[in-house]
Amino acid sequence: MAHLPPVDTFDYIVFGGTGDLTMRKLLPALYYRFRDGQVPADARIIATARSPLSRGEYQDRARQALQEHIPPASLEADTVTRFIELVHYVSLNGAEAQSNWADLRGLLDQEPETRIRVYYLATSPALYGQICENLSKQSLITEQSRVVLEKPIGTDLQSANAINDSVGRHFPENHIFRIDHYLGKETVQNLIALRFANPVFERLWTSDAIDYVQITAAETVGVEGRGAYYDRSGCLRDMIQNHLLQVLCLVAMDPPVSLDADSVRNEKLKVLHALKPIRSSDVAIYTSRGQYMRGHVNGQTVGSYLEDLGEGVTSETETFVALKAEILSWRWGNVPFYLRSGKRMAEKCSEIVIQFKSAPWTIFANRPAANRLVIRIQPDEGVMLSVSTKDPTPTDSLSLREADINIEFEKAFNIRYPDSYERLLLDVVRGDPILFIRRDEVEAAWKWIDPILQGWSKNEAPLEPYPAGTWGPEGARNLLAQSGHLWHEDMK
Ligand code: BG6
Repeated sequence: MAHLPPVDTFDYIVFGGTGDLTMRKLLPALYYRFRDGQVPADARIIATARSPLSRGEYQDRARQALQEHIPPASLEADTVTRFIELVHYVSLNGAEAQSNWADLRGLLDQEPETRIRVYYLATSPALYGQICENLSKQSLITEQSRVVLEKPIGTDLQSANAINDSVGRHFPENHIFRIDHYLGKETVQNLIALRFANPVFERLWTSDAIDYVQITAAETVGVEGRGAYYDRSGCLRDMIQNHLLQVLCLVAMDPPVSLDADSVRNEKLKVLHALKPIRSSDVAIYTSRGQYMRGHVNGQTVGSYLEDLGEGVTSETETFVALKAEILSWRWGNVPFYLRSGKRMAEKCSEIVIQFKSAPWTIFANRPAANRLVIRIQPDEGVMLSVSTKDPTPTDSLSLREADINIEFEKAFNIRYPDSYERLLLDVVRGDPILFIRRDEVEAAWKWIDPILQGWSKNEAPLEPYPAGTWGPEGARNLLAQSGHLWHEDMK
């Protein structure tokens, strides 16, 4: 692996240091960046949590997390040892003013105030305001401090505003990094390159040539022990309000004047503002929601959502959403954007499908199929364009057959695709917010989502069951069928 230039040295202070996100994503991501030479040898990772652990005990847990989440071939013993030396632990309840702040201050004071400090809040969003207030009271927020907020930022516009206000009292907006890990995915970033570096696409990127767009994030997993969080959230808040709307923005935005963070975010915001509101009385027309039942995923029998939650539990929470979004702009007039996400679906697949319009006329024996561009976010990141070619079978007339022009990035560049957190964690240190969400984007997204939630709470659209291991309820198919459109798996 090439040696990449290191970032300036830093202290990464993680609240929620014993949690799943830290163990599964943050420590492995920082390890990879350390291994590849981007993390300076004197940087520190200071985990904090309530558990009364010694530094050594926490380091053991961190080591174990690396072993669980990183393939053995990437775990070099000496590198792991040197990485673990960067890890510190302070037993602290960040939401309590009277907690053990002295130990944290003691550690931070060992380094000059000019060192970059990243406060990463991997806790419940309900604690964000309190933690920031305590950091401020303890005078731990320096000029070089940034705060990272994990989603979900609120459960609706009002609660999101309350969280943003409470954090904004202590950190200026340009030091607040609201993370959306979909923006750190290579193929999502590649959308900017694909669209704005290749006129062949951008010139066709309008309603003149495009019939409809689909954005799917399908998962095969269920709620995986996160039932308590998920049941209060549901798929619309968990995936659509953030990840899928962000991807929609990158697909639909106009070219930014530069790659400056605000230029890009201004263009994304315009898309969110141009979304046609879905009134709560119209949710049955524009949305489909479902909940998984027992079924089969990858050859295994799996339980229903209610079984996953626990015995005797009932719930009206959706584990699947499909919806039809419309963007009221010159570029996108009459082009539906279908968004869909769900748990326990037929396969794990996140992708964007750009369905082009058909040729208006044919001179061939059969009609050419409309071109389709598939941008595969995960797994198997790549771009595929389906085109009509001459059917090579010997017949007496010239007929057509579909074939694919296919780029698989991992093969093309022969490089491991980094996890999105690897990129995002160091962007915070660099102070580059291009792949983070600005406050006005969060607000605009909630403004659009809130009426859908309200319509559902009034039961304006049924919650349909779907068997685990399928592509969701029938309603999702009908949503497209009304306009003569098909989901990608039905086109094959
Ligand atoms: C998270 C959601 O933001 O994204 C999870 O909270 C979901 O419910 C996850 O499983 C999906 O991420 P990815 O990267 O696996 O598509």
